[in-house]
Amino acid sequence: MLEARGVRKVFRTFERVPGLRGILKNFVAREHVDIAALDGVDLRVERGESVGLIGANGAGKTTLVKILAGIVPASSGEARLLGRDSFDLRDAEKRRLALVMGQKSQLWWDLPPIDSFRLLKEIYGVSDADFAERLARFASMLDVEDRLKIQLRQLSLGQRMKMEIIGAFLHSPEVVFLDEPTIGLDLISRETIRRFLVGLSRQRSVTFVLTSHDLEDIEETCRRIVVLDQGAVAFDGGLTDLSQRVTGKRAVEVHVHPNARIDEESLVAELSLHGAELAGRSAGALTVIVSAERLAELVPRLFSLLEVKDLSVERQPLERLIREIYRRGIKAAEGGER
Ligand SMILES: Nc1ncnc2c1ncn2[C@@H]1O[C@H](COP(=O)(O)OP(=O)(O)OP(=O)(O)O)[C@@H](O)[C@H]1O
Ligand SMILES: [Mg+2]
Repeated sequence: MLEARGVRKVFRTFERVPGLRGILKNFVAREHVDIAALDGVDLRVERGESVGLIGANGAGKTTLVKILAGIVPASSGEARLLGRDSFDLRDAEKRRLALVMGQKSQLWWDLPPIDSFRLLKEIYGVSDADFAERLARFASMLDVEDRLKIQLRQLSLGQRMKMEIIGAFLHSPEVVFLDEPTIGLDLISRETIRRFLVGLSRQRSVTFVLTSHDLEDIEETCRRIVVLDQGAVAFDGGLTDLSQRVTGKRAVEVHVHPNARIDEESLVAELSLHGAELAGRSAGALTVIVSAERLAELVPRLFSLLEVKDLSVERQPLERLIREIYRRGIKAAEGGER
């Protein structure tokens, strides 16, 4: 369905020298820096898969989405979509894909969404019956039926995003790229959008590539995740595989007095007797990772070792593991999990 092979993307940026001298200098010989936004990405996505693309700011997610969707060309390597080079798509293939960018509107700002949708209907050649049925269904799923006739610019951020999503799905695309569709949205809108995406991917076999900084978006809508780190794939696999590595773990947050003197070395040694690890330390708080089975033996020990003011146990170190992957790569992250 879509494929990247050794995809590289290099951006050339020019550094500006400030001031009048700079203007002259910039005119004559500008200094440039090449940034490899993508540095050899390999990825293969089959029909009906939903892939969550995550990574820190600047990791290359948006660049990869744009290359796969055929908006910008790769500097080298190969990107293919629907059996064709992504940057050489014909109308026939373009009709089968959709792109939603959280940061950018695809609808007409001055028109009410309903008018934009009618234009899209003509552009994509959607039949009257399909159009009416889809619009009614999507607007109801996203709870914006009473907002269709209001100028887009007058809608709230969440309502606008929902309209963008309706617009993207009206022609019933087979491949959908969503780049941070929930950015800046409130909890309820995020949940509504997730439910919409999950509902659609169940009904038909739509292929999704979704990027988000909200791990819950990914956990609820995608089975597979790809972690990009500095332009390369740091992890690619099932979300359950990744969660299983961490579901047996607990994160114990221990609050102590900010001035408490803690001998870190002996604490670490003591923790290792219980198979536990010191995962973080800040003024007044320590985070300890331990297996669920050994939690009961560790907690009383913590009380005797430290002057505990408060203690809480969380079960979600998936976010922590992913942060580690960003920082150190999957192997190291797993090692650190021991
Ligand atoms: N048009 C451009 N010109 C120059 N550099 C660019 C351009 N677009 C992206 N970059 C650089 O490429 C790198 C990757 O950018 P990209 O937008 O793909 O990151 P991202 O993973 O989407 O980040 P974010 O989570 O912040 O959206 C960054 O270092 C960025 O500065
Ligand atoms: Mg981005």
